[in-house]
Amino acid sequence: MGSTFNVAVIPGDCTGPEVMREGKKVLKAAGARHGFALNFFEIDLGGERYLRTGETLPDSVIEELRRMDAIYLGALGHPDVPPGILEQKILLRLRFELDQYVNLRPVKLYPHVDTPLKDKGPDEIDFVIVRENTEGFYVGAGGFLKRGTADEIAVQECICTRKGVERLLRYAFELAGRRGKRRALTLCGKSNVLTYAWDLWSRAFTELSQSYPDVTIDYAHVDALCMWMVKNPERFDVIATDNMFGDIITDLGAIIQGGMGIAAGGNINPEGVSMFEPIGGSAPKYTGKNQINPLACILAGALMLENLGLAAAARAVEDAVVQVVSRDIESLDAGRMGRTTQEVGDLVAGYLT
Ligand code: IPM
Ligand code: MN
Repeated sequence: MGSTFNVAVIPGDCTGPEVMREGKKVLKAAGARHGFALNFFEIDLGGERYLRTGETLPDSVIEELRRMDAIYLGALGHPDVPPGILEQKILLRLRFELDQYVNLRPVKLYPHVDTPLKDKGPDEIDFVIVRENTEGFYVGAGGFLKRGTADEIAVQECICTRKGVERLLRYAFELAGRRGKRRALTLCGKSNVLTYAWDLWSRAFTELSQSYPDVTIDYAHVDALCMWMVKNPERFDVIATDNMFGDIITDLGAIIQGGMGIAAGGNINPEGVSMFEPIGGSAPKYTGKNQINPLACILAGALMLENLGLAAAARAVEDAVVQVVSRDIESLDAGRMGRTTQEVGDLVAGYLT
């Protein structure tokens, strides 16, 4: 008897439902082959609900989500809703309320996928960014003085707690210890300028490293790290960083692995409920056209399987995606795949072993 998992599905806005349909299809097919079942519970959150009812994320929905084994998110962002509302009141609030303190973003170039980096291939681009997901500038601490006057002052505070930093770093050390042969962890910060925050991060990093003698450590300032990600991405195995720097460097990571059509991430609470999402936006102009690339959503599904302890099934989904990018599609970009959204989902499901 295989296991059964309850998964909340938030298709979200615009092209979200289209990619989610393919994601669910592939995961169901993986379940049939690998002997597990997923019960999907559709949750209506996003721009349409907000425009209809004024609700973003009711407390009752959060309680419902807490009881799930995982959350699968399509995309949020609606052309009729001012920017910031859905992002802050749904996506960020979910990360905070569910204490998903790790934002895990693999940067992996698959064979036959184009990268804008010259002379770099799958052997050189294969690392994971572990971004702190509940603190830093994202806590929304700060305020205005004399707003709207000539003397106005705006303060935006970056909050780092010892506990928050340590739990994130511990996760990164564990991951580096498990991953391949390199076992290398790079801390990405700005200790030369942001001297309070990065003093705390650096001390926690050095102290924790004593418990992980097998992991090789180094440190890079975020500006230099951006340069290395482009020039010598092969230097990296696991990168740990704070929320803001992580947000920025993961978009750089996404583009070197082939773009938003293939970049997936997990918002992970190792002791609670985690949420998996394609890291791109809702791509409004492709809504309903059957042209958006569902691979990022499908790979987010693979991350979810891995997180549920279904490593073999996760690998099978990843292998099937590699087949599709190697043989069947012309480009990862929406509208230029040479296949429809639905065909890409069918192809991945068809290659599953
Ligand atoms: C991301 C996104 C979000 C973030 C936005 C939409 C709030 O850019 O998941 O990286 O800044 O974390
Ligand atoms: Mn981002």
